[in-house]
Amino acid sequence: MTQDELKQSVAREAIKYIVDDEVIGVGSGSTANFFVDELGKVRNRIAGAVASSEKTAERLKRHGIRLFDLNSVNELPVYIDGADEVTEHLAMIKGGGGALTREKIVATVAKKFVCIADESKLVPVLGKFPLPVEVIPMARAYVARQMVKLGGQPKLRERFATDNGNIVLDVWGLSILNPVELETAVNNIAGVVTNGLFARRGADLLLLGTKTGVRTIARK
Ligand code: 5RP
Repeated sequence: MTQDELKQSVAREAIKYIVDDEVIGVGSGSTANFFVDELGKVRNRIAGAVASSEKTAERLKRHGIRLFDLNSVNELPVYIDGADEVTEHLAMIKGGGGALTREKIVATVAKKFVCIADESKLVPVLGKFPLPVEVIPMARAYVARQMVKLGGQPKLRERFATDNGNIVLDVWGLSILNPVELETAVNNIAGVVTNGLFARRGADLLLLGTKTGVRTIARK
């Protein structure tokens, strides 16, 4: 099975978690794209979707799925999104596509976060994948210095701006043994909008695409 086929298998499995007649939160990235394509096939079952990025919004629209502004919905029963790295405890690094801030907002509002990923994303310790940090442009150098103090090597994501008009620093070389603590520490740096650690609000369920089938891991 190719990596894309594994992504497709979890996207298909995730349809089991949508709630009929409700608004669904939808993430960003290639795995989330497969999910949007599956959602398109059952679009009449849901009221619509809240997108975590402009790219996802475009794809949802192409499938004829009604888009909702997060401010206009009171409740979001479920949020479905991919991850760059995920642990057995369902803490994640996200933001490889740069949509981390909106993803974190929608994930926080949702009652249930279902993470969909192929088996290459499961890691014992987070940090091999560089941690994305969304930063207000004028704070770039200051935040970079603070990230060095925290043990990382920040690198500006070239020719990239987030949907919110900010820059992203990708921070290499972190071995993240306490993701909740680091998530809080990075968020407390002035100029940081969000960081890609999703540990305080981790996933509730992981659908992991493996060569022998989809493995379901629930938060303990
Ligand atoms: C985008 C994300 C994605 O969920 C993450 O990058 C995984 O992407 P993919 O499914 O393409 O591997 O956080 O900001």
